[in-house]
Amino acid sequence: MRVGVLTGGGDCPGLNAVIRAIVRKGVKEYDFEFVGFLDGWRGPLENMTTELGIAQVRGILPRGGTILKSSRTNPFKIDGGVEKIKDNLAANGVDALIAIGGEDTLGVATKLADLGVNVVGVPKTIDNDLSGTDFTFGFDTAVNIAMEAIDRLHTTAESHHRVLVVEVMGRHAGWIALHAGIAGGANVVLIPEQPFDIDKVCGYVEKRFQSHYSPIIVVSEGATPVEGGDMTLVSGEKDAFGHVRLGGIGDRLAKEIEDRTGKEARAVVLGHVQRGGTPTAFDRWLATRFGLQAVTAVHDQDYGKMVALRGTDIVRVPLAEGTAELKLVQPEAYAEAEVFFG
Ligand code: F6P
Repeated sequence: MRVGVLTGGGDCPGLNAVIRAIVRKGVKEYDFEFVGFLDGWRGPLENMTTELGIAQVRGILPRGGTILKSSRTNPFKIDGGVEKIKDNLAANGVDALIAIGGEDTLGVATKLADLGVNVVGVPKTIDNDLSGTDFTFGFDTAVNIAMEAIDRLHTTAESHHRVLVVEVMGRHAGWIALHAGIAGGANVVLIPEQPFDIDKVCGYVEKRFQSHYSPIIVVSEGATPVEGGDMTLVSGEKDAFGHVRLGGIGDRLAKEIEDRTGKEARAVVLGHVQRGGTPTAFDRWLATRFGLQAVTAVHDQDYGKMVALRGTDIVRVPLAEGTAELKLVQPEAYAEAEVFFG
């Protein structure tokens, strides 16, 4: 059997661990052959392939990024895209495809599965916002990077009696902000699911200064104020999946806090640092198990499925179910963190 593998969407620590596990088990246990498709869905669309065997996956377990590269190409936005994919899979003798990606990449996989392509999905995103799985790999690494930044910012904020606002990733879901904020002892955490009241935020800042300790505010890039207004945009241009580029809420907040409280406030944008470099042990473990189970699903010809973490088990769920809705931070989980605010 010949199996294609691709990685799509924003990269994420652990992608290489998945690829390695797929190839190692596929070759050793099932005698599969593999072909790598480059740049996400652009690979099968434009027939961009690369050799993928034991030699290619040697030494990649601790490496961030993806040896298969990535893109946000959406074949459903391209004339004849689906036919081109089917033709190129056939031309490469590919019997089944493993697509590793988030909501968008797996959304395409779901539609292709409905159109008869033999596809198995592996969920990935640092945002941890896929409903079908308890956790996605990459999230733990991103949270640890953000936590370490918060730890470091505490000491410099204290030395200068400053407010430091840390902007983290999270377009629609505040998981990174919430987990890193709790782990790093942030004084306020602002997430997209809970529009924030700037007066209240300034109240927390004042209160924190009264205890002679400088506040750290963690804010998701997609957080918005209650008084309305759009998410802060870097660019209004949409990508192939209809997403705009967010950014700037940290600066906007810092300015507002400085104007209202008279305390110096600065913003730190962590950006792609959260997605780069080596994955944590948890992410390597989860990514490896996802890879092992994905290739087994192909062996079982159990197509149209996505592997998912439920508790400590890896299960298979229908692709459509796994990506049906975003997993958002529930009000109770946010309320739990509120005891530390101010
Ligand atoms: O989906 C993962 C993610 O890192 C989001 O948190 C972020 O909004 C987005 O990707 C950024 O994407 P890009 O690197 O394409 O600008």
